[in-house]
Amino acid sequence: MSKIGIASPRSAATVSKHSRPGAATIIAVTSGKGGVGKTFVAANLAAALSRSGKKVLLLDADLGLANLDVVFNIHPKITLHDVLTGGATLEDAIIEVTGGISVLPAASGLVEYSRLTGEVQDELSAIIDQLAQRYDYLFLDTGAGISDLVLYSASLAREVLVVATPEPTSLTDAYATIKVLAMMQQRSIFHLLFNQVSKSGEGSRYAAQLGDVANRYLESQTATPIELHHVGDIPEDQSVPDALKKRKLLMHAYPGSPAALAMSKIAKAVSRI
Ligand SMILES: Nc1ncnc2c1ncn2[C@@H]1O[C@H](COP(=O)(O)OP(=O)(O)OP(=O)(O)O)[C@@H](O)[C@H]1O
Ligand SMILES: [Mg+2]
Repeated sequence: MSKIGIASPRSAATVSKHSRPGAATIIAVTSGKGGVGKTFVAANLAAALSRSGKKVLLLDADLGLANLDVVFNIHPKITLHDVLTGGATLEDAIIEVTGGISVLPAASGLVEYSRLTGEVQDELSAIIDQLAQRYDYLFLDTGAGISDLVLYSASLAREVLVVATPEPTSLTDAYATIKVLAMMQQRSIFHLLFNQVSKSGEGSRYAAQLGDVANRYLESQTATPIELHHVGDIPEDQSVPDALKKRKLLMHAYPGSPAALAMSKIAKAVSRI
């Protein structure tokens, strides 16, 4: 894992609660740009970590536009929405899926979560506190963008894993996400994963570039050093959409594929976070 030290932004409108009680390592998977592989990464990292005996729960933090149900081929009747609105208990909503992974699914097509109320924030925080007592890892699979919900989800996590692809717009959005989280939540450590790379060493180059940009543009607003930890790269691999079409996890459908082998390596790095 390479580390790139850059200066950290400070002034904060929102203070992160990223030091939370409980046993679980809570990891928010985010990106800025949509469609870069957050859900794929979260689900398959969960699979890789659960293989080594860890208890892992994936929470679909895209409360109005859920994805994890599709990846796991589940059709939940009860979702996080029911828990948040008091219509169901956590136990009712959690689904144990393949390989000992648990999923807390969200609903799809709910416009009310495009704005985040204080009430939902408190509920979500309480839910995550409860889950943290029961699992080794909690992955918060966020939606795209830097909405209040994405930022709040990140604030509930101990670690933030930023997924980016080599596309310039993805790199720009990854940087914007890091900047906002660093400035609003005083987060100083970010984990970077580059997905859909075509050449080895590509991710290290992008991680260095992001570090340089952050250093140059955020330095004046920072007081404590930020570290960008590059956890690894995943190649562009046809096995990824093929597994999705079969409604299976890549780690289960194509464990020997280049993307699955890269994911196993990254899971080892993540287990040392
Ligand atoms: N390494 C890869 N090689 C080939 N295809 C990939 C790879 N990673 C992801 N994909 C494909 O990219 C698409 C988007 O992936 P995914 O849904 O995980 O992204 P996302 O960031 O969660 O999107 P959203 O922002 O909408 O939540 C999927 O069809 C997936 O199969
Ligand atoms: Mg997704």
